[in-house]
Amino acid sequence: MWLNTYRVRKTTIENIGTNMENAVEIKDLSKHYDEVIAVNRISFEVRKGEIFGFLGPNGAGKTTTIRILTGVIKPNGGTANIMGYDVLKQPLRAKQIISVVPETSNAYIDLTAWQNLMLIGELYGIPKKERLERAEALLRKFELYERRNQLARGFSKGMKQRLMLCMALLTEPQVLFLDEPTAGLDVKSARLMRDIIRRFNGDGATVFLSTHNMEEANQLCDRIAIINHGRIAAIDTPENLRMKSSGLKSVEVSFNKTVSVDALCKISRVAQAKKMGDKIRLYTDEPHNVIENLIDYARSESLVIISLNTLAPTLEDVFVKLIEEREGD
Ligand SMILES: Nc1ncnc2c1ncn2[C@@H]1O[C@H](COP(=O)(O)OP(=O)(O)O)[C@@H](O)[C@H]1O
Ligand SMILES: [Mg+2]
Repeated sequence: MWLNTYRVRKTTIENIGTNMENAVEIKDLSKHYDEVIAVNRISFEVRKGEIFGFLGPNGAGKTTTIRILTGVIKPNGGTANIMGYDVLKQPLRAKQIISVVPETSNAYIDLTAWQNLMLIGELYGIPKKERLERAEALLRKFELYERRNQLARGFSKGMKQRLMLCMALLTEPQVLFLDEPTAGLDVKSARLMRDIIRRFNGDGATVFLSTHNMEEANQLCDRIAIINHGRIAAIDTPENLRMKSSGLKSVEVSFNKTVSVDALCKISRVAQAKKMGDKIRLYTDEPHNVIENLIDYARSESLVIISLNTLAPTLEDVFVKLIEEREGD
């Protein structure tokens, strides 16, 4: 183990100062637009080979962060490196190993799908034979090959998004950035996008994607950073975020008669009670105790319990809680 570590360290001498397990390292990154602080001293790492989710509501700072990382805009402070290359000091090096699918389309609508791909291939100096082979393979994989000679102008949102992903993958990037890749897509196109992202990641590449869709982050990502008002509210695996969030476990109960939420709030160990349709959800850190107390309560009030379930928090619960906590700051 020691020997292995030593060898790895020795062979990466030119990258001293960076951790080679990380694909992206961000430290104290900030970006202001006049008085708006879009990104506020954020720091985190994305590990090589993972699908990393950047989850946050509109205006949280996701696009700004991605623009900084992909060299479109400069930060006001802080540092960022990708595979050991500083995005400010070695922007060309960094750009050579990344691709990005931006928030708004970067495909030329007056070119065909095929021409768009050839243009990217030429810009990146991919030899002709490879350019042709890769373009054909990608278009087939993304179900665009039959439409390759049509102008991008006539493409649906889903097709444009797939074309942008083809363009991004043509250069075989080590790190792929996607800014809300499934926003505004129909269910089928969104699923196809997610499948493609998973497959690409399965080949060993790192994926950094932003989304405001919790279910998407949950399904796709190895780890998630939750961003709100330009700050990181939490960062962990989807499962750990769920487990670690205290006060979010709950017991859901329904009775044969209407029972007031206020009465159930007073039950010992209940932190909060909320009416959910015909059920009442009781938030607690100790669901077992609450169940016992509920049974006692039902007996004393001559109520019959119709249904009773313990629920683990959803990622959405965690997200809402973290956002509310920040709002309260
Ligand atoms: N070019 C800009 N000029 C002024 N304000 C901007 C600009 N870009 C973004 N902002 C502001 O910065 C904040 C973060 O925006 P953005 O990074 O686009 O968020 P997200 O992608 O998470 O929706 C928002 O308040 C937004 O209005
Ligand atoms: Mg955005």
